[in-house]
Amino acid sequence: MEVKAIEQAVQTLKSRVPAQLASPVIGIVCGSGLGTLADDLDSRFEIDYAEIPGFAESGVSGHKSKLAFGFLGKDIKVPVVCMLGRFHMYEGWTASQTIFPIRTMAHLGIDSIIITNAAGSLNPQIPSGTIVSVHDHIAFPGLTSENPLKGPLVPIQTPALKKTTPEPPQPPRFLPQSDAHNFDLRLLAHRAAHKIGLSKDAVVEGTYCWVTGPTYETPAEGRLLRQAGADVVGMSTIPEVIAAHHAGVKVLVLSLVTNLVVIPESYPSAKAIVEAELNGTPPPVYKKSEVVSHMEVLEEGQKKAQDMRRLVSEVIESRARS
Ligand code: 6GU
Repeated sequence: MEVKAIEQAVQTLKSRVPAQLASPVIGIVCGSGLGTLADDLDSRFEIDYAEIPGFAESGVSGHKSKLAFGFLGKDIKVPVVCMLGRFHMYEGWTASQTIFPIRTMAHLGIDSIIITNAAGSLNPQIPSGTIVSVHDHIAFPGLTSENPLKGPLVPIQTPALKKTTPEPPQPPRFLPQSDAHNFDLRLLAHRAAHKIGLSKDAVVEGTYCWVTGPTYETPAEGRLLRQAGADVVGMSTIPEVIAAHHAGVKVLVLSLVTNLVVIPESYPSAKAIVEAELNGTPPPVYKKSEVVSHMEVLEEGQKKAQDMRRLVSEVIESRARS
């Protein structure tokens, strides 16, 4: 049973990780190009996913495959655990493999999680390089098919649930999601952005749309997602949000916009070119359309990784102070 597997992973971690680090209060998921979020960890201890029973191995370039434990913060030392490398459903992992590390961190006792990712912008007002503090999401796969909580209710018993639900702690079968993106953490994030001197437009609020990938969106799909109310789109994060929220863990999602989803107002017309040929008139000239690349996503991640890292650290420190 899945809870047994989670307990085994927790036991392995408790036996391997130095005791002072083995009860982290905050989890961090480092997105594409954002692995340096863990560079500030003091007393850092790393363990490969391959050594933790139940963990799959993440294989996307720009992602590593380990948990890093350590302390973050200058004045107050906060024990945290970082996922360097995450699991995506487009790699073929099942939803339950994808969220296994989240459940493991929840059982270790984190009370909050900061989930980062690289995302494409669907909103013309949100340029590349912007950090989006996610206030809501659309889970296209989750709505009708690939919901990570589908199947028998997994009776997880996390310290966070023990605090918020009556005894015996019981995760809900029908999970409300109106409060999936924790308001207090979002307040902290915007205060932290101001405190570390980021400009007013550097961090905005928006709705993240989860798609499975691995294809990027067609122009028509991009237009559909925009019309549906999404500001950014990506292939990760939301299974993790749902699993953490289900486990009673408070969630903050920070998306770094690494590229724009191309939504042309009109298509180059093959028909118009052929008609011009037939009429002997000059053919219309069209600009070559832009194409998103994984390289671009990683490069923008690297450029802004420093801002993201400072922001995450400040959120964690201010949370410890409050
Ligand atoms: Cl443009 N689309 C999706 N689905 N994921 C992304 C992305 C775009 N950019 C970064 N991640």
